[in-house]
Amino acid sequence: MGKLDGKVAIVTGSTSGMGRETAYLFAKEGAKVVVTGRNEARAKAVVEKIKADGGEAIYVIADTTDLKSPQKIFDATMEAYGTVDILMNNAGMLSLAQFATCTADEFLTAINVNVTSAMLLSQLVAPIMKEKGNCHIINVASIVGWAAHWGFVAYVTSKHAMVGLTKAMANELAPEIHVNGICPGAIRTAMLDSVGGEDAFGPMIARTALKRVGEGSEIASVALFLATNDSSFVDGQLIRVDGGVDV
Ligand SMILES: NC(=O)c1ccc[n+]([C@@H]2O[C@H](COP(=O)([O-])OP(=O)(O)OC[C@H]3O[C@@H](n4cnc5c(N)ncnc54)[C@H](OP(=O)(O)O)[C@@H]3O)[C@@H](O)[C@H]2O)c1
Repeated sequence: MGKLDGKVAIVTGSTSGMGRETAYLFAKEGAKVVVTGRNEARAKAVVEKIKADGGEAIYVIADTTDLKSPQKIFDATMEAYGTVDILMNNAGMLSLAQFATCTADEFLTAINVNVTSAMLLSQLVAPIMKEKGNCHIINVASIVGWAAHWGFVAYVTSKHAMVGLTKAMANELAPEIHVNGICPGAIRTAMLDSVGGEDAFGPMIARTALKRVGEGSEIASVALFLATNDSSFVDGQLIRVDGGVDV
């Protein structure tokens, strides 16, 4: 018996990285999974693997720079499965713009992709989850939602906002919906590769107790904890999964 038998889980940004690992784990634990992202070939491959392994999933192609995309994800979920129990707001983009030169467009794009779309999708699923009870929303922030670490103003601001969103939602949606967040440190994904991979993270690794980067599967296992009653007295929390940065 799986820990998520009979559950429906939306995992945004599950065409790669930690979202994909979470989609695989949730499906292995019995959830019907809604995979989202922009890249159709990768979305299809994730769904095919889940099905080949005996699970159930659909994919929805949705670019979250478009604030109508949460509605598209919600509608596809309802059409396929008629309900939703778990939402992991994981889709995110890195913005390397520095404070002095960041344009309004760059700033708002990062905010919309990393936070606004998560808020809007949560608003859509919340009434169903409130009625059902025992539901879970998991927001993926970052250790830069905790402290800046770098001067990437739009990214850092968006991840701090994700922390605030998690706390505000937890207060408003309890007790039927538990809302928690994960603050990953450096995790080996396409996003990490886009800024030079593990080699570029030497200084960060030096400040990390475990002296290594993390794997997407190490985020997925914490997401599973937050998606089940194993975390029944955990609410409004941001769990750092960073190998012990600056401890
Ligand atoms: N890797 C790290 O070290 C690290 C650390 C802290 C926090 N995070 C956060 O973890 C989350 C997952 O990132 P990752 O590291 O797993 O990176 P990743 O492998 O690049 O995955 C990012 C996911 O988000 C989706 N996505 C990005 N922009 C999108 C958009 N405009 N519309 C829809 N989907 C979009 C991507 O889908 P498509 O490519 O198909 O569009 C992909 O599935 C992000 O929120 C990121 O900020 C990562």
